[in-house]
Amino acid sequence: MSVKLPPAICFRVTRSCNARCGFCLAPPAGVHQPAEALMHRLDWLLSHGVKSIHFCGGEPTIHPSLPQLLAYAHARGAKTKITTNAITLPDALLPFLRATGTQVKVSLHGDREHHNTIVGIEAFDHTTGNLRRLIAAGVSTSVQTTVIAGGTWVVEWMIDFCLEHRVRRLSILPFIPRGNGFGRQSEYGLRQSQRRELHELVTTKRRALSSRLDLRWLDFTARPVHVVEPDGKVVLEGATETGDTLLYRIPASDR
Ligand SMILES: C[S@@+](CC[C@H](N)C(=O)[O-])C[C@H]1O[C@@H](n2cnc3c(N)ncnc32)[C@H](O)[C@@H]1O
Ligand code: SF4
Repeated sequence: MSVKLPPAICFRVTRSCNARCGFCLAPPAGVHQPAEALMHRLDWLLSHGVKSIHFCGGEPTIHPSLPQLLAYAHARGAKTKITTNAITLPDALLPFLRATGTQVKVSLHGDREHHNTIVGIEAFDHTTGNLRRLIAAGVSTSVQTTVIAGGTWVVEWMIDFCLEHRVRRLSILPFIPRGNGFGRQSEYGLRQSQRRELHELVTTKRRALSSRLDLRWLDFTARPVHVVEPDGKVVLEGATETGDTLLYRIPASDR
């Protein structure tokens, strides 16, 4: 089998989660895989040209082996990143994030009321508290925000939040109709005109902020993304599940 993979890949450590976002593009499914199986998948990816592992999920921080997986990937020369809701940040994880130079993206979707409504639990204080812990510990930390219909105001709110907390990068993700989001399109879906206005706002703000904040537009519909599911499937994901392509199944370890 000839395997062709990009240099960076999204690695879903688990599909379990401690939140319940109404728009979740990768909603909770299945159980945690053992560390050995996940390390075997990391080996396979790295031996097929992947250089950067972006740990995501589900919620990666609730997998007990995340520190071990970070150390494993780092020791094999991979660059490591994490996207997290930061509801929990185990004490044991912090030194691993630092030692491996992992870049952390924290998902925060607006003020307390809006964020808690979106994620379905009272998460705002935990997430912002852990964001502060990450910054204080010297971990490279940025923020990413999913924007839904009627949520354009969130962009300005998040810019102020980032400037206040000395966060250097903010990525704005327009809602896409994947996973749970597919059934919530009437509530969350951005019309073409709204999407365009949001994009224009981000472009204008980006110019105005210049070097104070690296404001980015991260649209998952722009191009398909390579994703490794916890069961070892490598999938090319589009804006909706109907556009997905199963590329490979990582062979099980014979150890
Ligand atoms: C699937 S989550 C996994 C990592 C982690 N649980 C988190 O929420 O940060 C990765 C990112 O996708 C974003 N996201 C989830 N569903 C989305 C959707 N339907 N449209 C756009 N962004 C979405 C989340 O806000 C988060 O920033
Ligand atoms: S977007 Fe992230 S935090 Fe929200 S339910 Fe999905 S995996 Fe969990």
